[in-house]
Amino acid sequence: MDIKQAIAEKVEAFASVPAADVASWFEVPPSPDKGDIALPCFKLAKSLRKAPPVIAAELSAAFSGFGGIIKAEPSGGYLNFFLDRKDEAEKVILRVINEGESYGCSDEGAGRNVCIDFSSINICKPFGVHHITTTVLGHSLSRIYKHLGFNPVRINHLGDWGTQFGKMLVAYKKWGDREKIENSRSPMRELVDLYVRFHQEAEAHPELEDEARAAFRSIELHDPENWALYDWFKEMTLKEAQRTYDLLGVEFDSYNGEAFYEDKMPAVIEELKEKGVTTVDNGMTIVDLSAYGMPPCLILKSNGGTIYPTRDITAAIYRKNTYDFYKNLYVVAYQQNLHFRQVFKTLELMGYDWAKDCVHVNFGMISMPEGTFSTRKGNAIYLEDVLLKAIEKTKAIMTEKSPDLENMDEVARQIGVGAVIWGPLYSSRIKDFTFSWEKALNFEGETAPYAQYTHTRCCSVLRKAGAYDIKKADWKSLDNESTANLVKAIDALPSAVESAAEKYEPYLIARNVIEICSSFNKFYFENRIMDEDESVRSARLAVTDAARIAIKTGLYLLGIEAPERM
Ligand code: ARG
Repeated sequence: MDIKQAIAEKVEAFASVPAADVASWFEVPPSPDKGDIALPCFKLAKSLRKAPPVIAAELSAAFSGFGGIIKAEPSGGYLNFFLDRKDEAEKVILRVINEGESYGCSDEGAGRNVCIDFSSINICKPFGVHHITTTVLGHSLSRIYKHLGFNPVRINHLGDWGTQFGKMLVAYKKWGDREKIENSRSPMRELVDLYVRFHQEAEAHPELEDEARAAFRSIELHDPENWALYDWFKEMTLKEAQRTYDLLGVEFDSYNGEAFYEDKMPAVIEELKEKGVTTVDNGMTIVDLSAYGMPPCLILKSNGGTIYPTRDITAAIYRKNTYDFYKNLYVVAYQQNLHFRQVFKTLELMGYDWAKDCVHVNFGMISMPEGTFSTRKGNAIYLEDVLLKAIEKTKAIMTEKSPDLENMDEVARQIGVGAVIWGPLYSSRIKDFTFSWEKALNFEGETAPYAQYTHTRCCSVLRKAGAYDIKKADWKSLDNESTANLVKAIDALPSAVESAAEKYEPYLIARNVIEICSSFNKFYFENRIMDEDESVRSARLAVTDAARIAIKTGLYLLGIEAPERM
């Protein structure tokens, strides 16, 4: 039995407080010399009608000679437990080695779908570095949910509808060159250039805007020639975007974007009207949300055109009908907070009680030291370029440090990509984030390359040692502080995964991975792993193996690969 559970049952007998409650109270003492886990006794003060220090002292006596506990020491209102390290180590290490890379898996989510709308790039716009957070957070969340037994549905809700496609058509027909675009290394940039040019020329020639409106209308009416061009814009953009997704190892189950809902909106608009959710204001169809302290949610413009919220409302209903989701997540920057509040409230007003299962997983802004991006000004930094630059830098370092490495290109990709995506994964998602080349290319300190390096160190120790026999492990030899800290850090991974899913915060896993790495490195310097004594050696190799598994699993859940050599 879990030691916390065992203590909680003893406390239940002592204080008549349900063991399940007590088991959730434990805290970590402020420093390791104060023990391994702490029970806050003030929580028992009410039922026992005594002062917390008195309770702590009385309880401590009840734990003398209790299995798995070395001592229980009162400290103020807390009772601090010093656990039997060899028991802890044996239990944790055996579990990790048995579970392997499914360490921390559960079947909690069995039979439940979780829709994750992430990355959701725009056609004919740059796939810029500003898309990094949604892309890597969504990817990580999909792995985390999968680990917990859920079935993630990864959706790239493409921005592939709207008047900008009219502008693209006009620009392409006036200044575009099909062959040049198709043969370019970056068709996306060619298309963006046309878009930028449209805006420049429209300043002097405002009639271009009318042409663009008419052109978009023709797309809406599925004019065969214009539709074919529009389709080709999409194809060109996605073909290039795929290169970035391949570098990142990101995949999707659906690319149903805004255009997909075009023929599904009329029924939803009808439903909104029938249910009396909408009103007409100045010719526009809106949902009045003043009672909820929000501006109205626009459904139809005065010319009858649909807009962004109309499509999101339709998409949510489609997702519910298609996937019967348990949760429906939107990994989108906080600039769209109001938009999602309006969409979710409208769904609720339509009588959909599942509106409460829709979650806007918002995150902070990414800004550039030079200010914000603007597609129209054409000053975006492409995510692919950032990744390639990091890979190139990694390769230069590796060519110097480990020139004989096999599959150098592959390893350079794994490390370069890890370095770049670490930033948005290592702090709470709501924090604003300033992109800098320096940070993205940093391999020192608490970074992905550091974790990857520690993983290769584990692999190298195990490779040199050859096979070890875990049955021969002498768990007593693990009774020292550096090993105990490492065991604790490894043991914390499953609950970090749980909390990351609950709070939609992968950084909780990233922090745990770094904790495991730094404690492994301490363990490595303070303990002789290749001890002459086989039983000691086996125990320390088992610890190394467990650290390797935990680091690899944690990195995997973040969307980061762990090479065996670098
Ligand atoms: N394409 C949008 C943008 O780049 C994000 C779409 C997010 N998803 C959604 N269902 N609205 O801002």
